[in-house]
Amino acid sequence: MKSSVFAKMGERFRRAVVLLLALGALGGLYAAFSPTSTAKDGVNTAADEATYVREGQKLYSEGCISCHGRNAEGVTDRGPSLIGVGAAAVEFQVSTGRMPMARQEAQAQRKPPVYDSDETTQLAMYIQSLGGGPEIPNGDLREGDMSAGGVLFRTNCAACHAFSSNGGALSSGKFAPTLKETTDRQLYAAMLTGPQNMPVFGDNQLTPQEKKDIIAYVQSMKESKDPGGLGIGRTGPVPEGLVAFLVGIVACMFAALWIAGKS
Ligand code: HEC
Ligand code: HEC
Repeated sequence: MKSSVFAKMGERFRRAVVLLLALGALGGLYAAFSPTSTAKDGVNTAADEATYVREGQKLYSEGCISCHGRNAEGVTDRGPSLIGVGAAAVEFQVSTGRMPMARQEAQAQRKPPVYDSDETTQLAMYIQSLGGGPEIPNGDLREGDMSAGGVLFRTNCAACHAFSSNGGALSSGKFAPTLKETTDRQLYAAMLTGPQNMPVFGDNQLTPQEKKDIIAYVQSMKESKDPGGLGIGRTGPVPEGLVAFLVGIVACMFAALWIAGKS
């Protein structure tokens, strides 16, 4: 009697282990093949580029033209010229949801983005095609020296964004926002383009390597002080969601096995 119960338990247990291994393998595969979002995913040839620029122009005519003008030359009292602001400025403004601006306000607010990353790239490439300007480099933007980044952050950024990078008020109702929600590319773009009251940190002020040092520092600070979420590598929300998903599935599985075992 007893031994048959154990045999059953053993069988159930073996199945659970097999299932777990299969799920683990699936997770690994997913992580290995899930797309990493570089700005120029899918833009490999000149033809791709032409398509992106064309699509970008369409999006621009629908969402931006009323404030920035037919040829991005700007509209008095509505929006500035975008000639020469570069792909970096567009990516910054659009990916942080600041643009399209909903209404005239002292300072465009960060909000959930209206365009997905592909559309953002298209808009960025269209504006880039009009007047050139700064672009965000591809590749790992955090490959830097964290402690050097800390020193650079305290001298160049902390005055406005606070030592903790939590942000702070500036004069006349403006403010430097928290850096806790920023991505690597947004950090790079902010330095390169200097939105609103933020100074531009061109490559003469901060070399590309120094920018990466700062990004490494800011992002590490975010991770070490982040009260929520799990510190699963530095790979962002996809693996974290995946782990939550797997843990959930495994929990359900054990609950099911437990209920089956009871009956
Ligand atoms: C309701 C008007 C309005 C709309 C619509 C709008 N913008 Fe803007 N845009 C502005 C204003 C005003 C500013 C300057 C305010 C600021 O810098 O915070 C600005 C600033 C920008 C900048 C920064 C320029 C620089 O010098 O760095 C970019 C880039 C930009 N807009 C892109 C876009 C794109 C792309 C769209 C369409 C998806 C768009 N905007 C839609 C009003 C608008
Ligand atoms: C003089 C004050 C000032 C300094 C110095 C400054 N910033 Fe800013 N920063 C601002 C302001 C103001 C904004 C908001 C701009 C807007 O909303 O258009 C901003 C926005 C940003 C954003 C966008 C945050 C978001 O909402 O996602 C990032 C990233 C950023 N700054 C990084 C930096 C870094 C890195 C440095 C140092 C190299 C720095 N800033 C130095 C004033 C400053």
